[in-house]
Formats: sequence, structure tokens, C-alpha cells
Amino acid sequence: MHEFTPMIFDGDMVLNNHAMDETHHEMVDLLNQLHATKEADLLPALDALIAHTETHFALEEGWMARINFPAAGCHVSEHNQVIGVMRLVRTKVAAGETDFAYVLATELSAWLRIHAGSMDYALANFIEVTGADVGTTVG
Ligand SMILES: [Fe+2]
Ligand SMILES: [Fe+2]
Repeated sequence: MHEFTPMIFDGDMVLNNHAMDETHHEMVDLLNQLHATKEADLLPALDALIAHTETHFALEEGWMARINFPAAGCHVSEHNQVIGVMRLVRTKVAAGETDFAYVLATELSAWLRIHAGSMDYALANFIEVTGADVGTTVG
């Protein structure tokens, strides 16, 4: 088993955007759960993480499109890379290479903290200072 310190959704991750903060907190919980999942149950745990992440990214990308967010290109491409890695890991785990799931949980925990504090922070800040109406739903 890999070394893993459960991730904590702490004040450093709070962006003061309710929908984003709630989604990021849920992702923290899912990553902690994934790492604690036994091998036989990894596929449903990965599927839950992938489905949650697709909704998470669709929410932010819908906002970026709606408000013509200037840095949308690099933000969306980072999302796409992460989803791509998740899907690749799912195929590895389905083929019996279960270690990939635990490495993914560790790596995505580090990634989420950095992404929330940089790209998502910039998006939340742009919405706040421009007073853009993004609503609370996808799209
Ligand atoms: Fe996010
Ligand atoms: Fe994002």
C-alpha cells in the first residue's frame, strides 16, 4: 500500500464561491475514499470519481464559456488532461493493474490543491470582480 495522508479541505482551498467550494470538498472526500477502497471495489469508486469530475469540470467550463473567461483555453486543457488520466487509470485497473488507482488518488490530491489555488482561484476571482452572472447550474 502506498503512503497516503488523507487530504483535508482546509481554508487554503476555500475560494468563496459556494458551488466550487462544495464541489472541491466533495472531490477531496472522493479521493480519500478512493485511496481507502479495497482492490475489488476500485472500479465503482473510480466511476464515481470520474462522473463527479465530469460534472465539476462542466460547471466551470460552462461558466467560462458564458462569461468569455480570458484564460479558458489553458484551464479547459488542464481539465481535459486530468479526465484523460482518470480514464486511462480506469482501463489499467479494469485490466487488473490496481496500483494505478492508489497512485491516482495521491497525485490528484496534490493536483486539486494546486489547481484550486491557481486556475480555479483566477476564475472565482474574475467572476467576483466582474460581477458576472454565472448562475449555479451547468452551462
Ligand atoms: Fe474546480
Ligand atoms: Fe478547474
